[in-house]
Amino acid sequence: MNETLKTIMERYSCRDFADTPLTRGQLEALADASLASPSAMNRQPWHIIMVTDKALIEEMDAECMDILSKAEDKSGYERILSRGGKVFYNAPCMVMVACDGSDWAAMDCGIVSQNISLAAHSLGLGSVICGMADIPLSGARGNSFKERMRFPDGYRFGIAVLAGTAKSGKEPHELDRGKVTYVG
Ligand SMILES: Cc1cc2nc3c(=O)[nH]c(=O)nc-3n(C[C@H](O)[C@H](O)[C@H](O)COP(=O)(O)O)c2cc1C
Repeated sequence: MNETLKTIMERYSCRDFADTPLTRGQLEALADASLASPSAMNRQPWHIIMVTDKALIEEMDAECMDILSKAEDKSGYERILSRGGKVFYNAPCMVMVACDGSDWAAMDCGIVSQNISLAAHSLGLGSVICGMADIPLSGARGNSFKERMRFPDGYRFGIAVLAGTAKSGKEPHELDRGKVTYVG
């Protein structure tokens, strides 16, 4: 198997990060991998925000847990509690992919998140795509968090990816080959 396929097959969602900060080189490699993503008509409808401000990540985590704890449906809250009580799993870096909301932008930002995850794995880092990072941005403190992250005007949450040194890992999910049809 070539290195690219190996990276794709080995990647898994990491939910347990060590405190170790990413190096400048690692951050720049993830940022460049984001920018290398394809996008519809090459519009590049994203802005990539490399968040390494641990206090900000922790505040967003606490706000998210607060919102989840007050939700009518407690399943999200309980799932996070069962995973250690941290929505962002103590990650030292959150790559926030802000999105301009144009046609296909959500798809394009999803592709960015996969590029980041694969690049992280290829660098020996753990990562997890994190849709839940939208929760604190949608709450009462959302605008203040967006200001602190310097979201460009008019941009909204696209997707986020948490990255860092994995404290513990897991096996990649099983391939479900029943989900493929070969025609011809
Ligand atoms: C769009 C998207 C959003 C996700 N959001 C979260 C999240 O908020 N928290 C989390 O722990 N995992 C999240 N995941 C990771 C999935 O749960 C994970 O990819 C899936 O369970 C398969 O596991 P694997 O990535 O280890 O193969 C997300 C994945 C995607 C693609």
